[in-house]
Amino acid sequence: MKNALSWILVLFLVASLLHNCLNNTVQKEISQKNAFMDHLRKLYSSGDVSQWPKPVLDPESLSSFAEIGHLPETPFPEDNPYSPEKELLGKALFFDPRLSRSNQIACASCHDPELGWCDNRTFSFGHDRQSGTRNAMSILNVAYARSLFWDGRAGTLEKQSQMPIEDEKEMGEHIDIAAGKISKIKGYEVLFEKAFGDKSVTKDRISKAIATFERTVKSAPGKFDLFIDGKADAYTNDELMGLHLFRTKAQCINCHNSGYFSSNRFENIGTSLMGEKGEDLGRYPVTKNPEDAGKFRVPGLREVSRTGPWFHNGSMKTLTEVIRFYSMGNPEHTLKRATVHEGTALQSQKSGMVRMLELSDEEIFQLEAFLRTLSSAPGTVTVPELPK
Ligand code: HEC
Ligand code: HEC
Repeated sequence: MKNALSWILVLFLVASLLHNCLNNTVQKEISQKNAFMDHLRKLYSSGDVSQWPKPVLDPESLSSFAEIGHLPETPFPEDNPYSPEKELLGKALFFDPRLSRSNQIACASCHDPELGWCDNRTFSFGHDRQSGTRNAMSILNVAYARSLFWDGRAGTLEKQSQMPIEDEKEMGEHIDIAAGKISKIKGYEVLFEKAFGDKSVTKDRISKAIATFERTVKSAPGKFDLFIDGKADAYTNDELMGLHLFRTKAQCINCHNSGYFSSNRFENIGTSLMGEKGEDLGRYPVTKNPEDAGKFRVPGLREVSRTGPWFHNGSMKTLTEVIRFYSMGNPEHTLKRATVHEGTALQSQKSGMVRMLELSDEEIFQLEAFLRTLSSAPGTVTVPELPK
């Protein structure tokens, strides 16, 4: 009896010792984690980028790397400088369906300010409700893109703006006819005169005005900008950890960098569906360089939570899906991706920077929370009254 009692006592003592020990380790872990988060918060919200932890970069990305941060001042080209009058004219034209053959489709039909300046469809529809084959890009922050379209086939916004007008599936109008129609609208005379000095309407002026307006469509500073400027409590712990993961373990920053969150390079992340239905060769038809097959322009990620569905073909319906795709290093691509295009054998070479990341569910959640802080509150855009 006495023996049994002392055994129970010993067991009890050992159990409570173990319990205490475990409690202590858990508590120690929690306080270590809190200290780590406090430390990260201090560094990232210090207002001094040089204090941030070093990003995890591949040698491949170094030549185009610029740290993430604020958007710099809007660049306007020398041969098309900014003026408020040109912006006003460009805005009217951007919303004017009379640039299209049917007089029904404006730039704003597919780049709608209420839908993140895109249309939130997988593919847009245009003239005669024909469907395109690519997802409409947002024009938010497009001033920072060094080439336009998913494949970069337009070098400047001035050149770009005539292309949808003439695209059979988009606005389906000859640019000279479109310019002719605009020149017959009395109300435009004064707008052209103020913007360009006289009332003559040319396709060149139309392009310049639209491009000037587009350059003014820019994200207002958002939660991310506030946080890195020193508002330390602007971020939750998840958002903060997401930012850190973006620059380190998840390595998104290899390609999505600078204030625009894009290196402006063309990269192959294995989305071309080469050799399959829905194939898109991306940059290749523009350069005819086989190495460019399956490469797309790295899109900027500001406002990304408002511009879904995602990727050039709108194939990703949620941001979680996008992050899971990266976390697995896009395993689907290990199937041999090849095709023969106009007699040239092509192969899709996925970038070495897309690799298995083994992100936990919590980390995926945190990355998404961070991506969402890159959106600013959508301001109200007043749709201009069309000149009569
Ligand atoms: C029918 C829908 C539709 C219309 C109308 C339309 N767009 Fe687009 N826009 C798109 C699609 C789709 C893309 C992506 C196409 C691609 O990459 O091949 C795009 C891409 C762009 C881009 C490139 C953005 C970037 O980041 O590279 C700009 C700029 C743009 N459009 C401006 C305009 C302007 C200006 C007009 C009017 C003159 C216009 N769009 C009319 C659907 C449309
Ligand atoms: C090797 C360069 C590269 C890396 C690394 C990379 N991306 Fe991308 N990202 C791209 C390219 C290229 C596209 C466009 C692909 C397409 O449209 O088919 C893209 C598209 C996206 C899009 C969709 C944007 C849109 O407007 O449709 C999101 C969101 C995104 N990436 C987030 C991330 C995140 C998060 C990470 C890190 C886990 C990451 N990316 C890592 C190159 C990269």
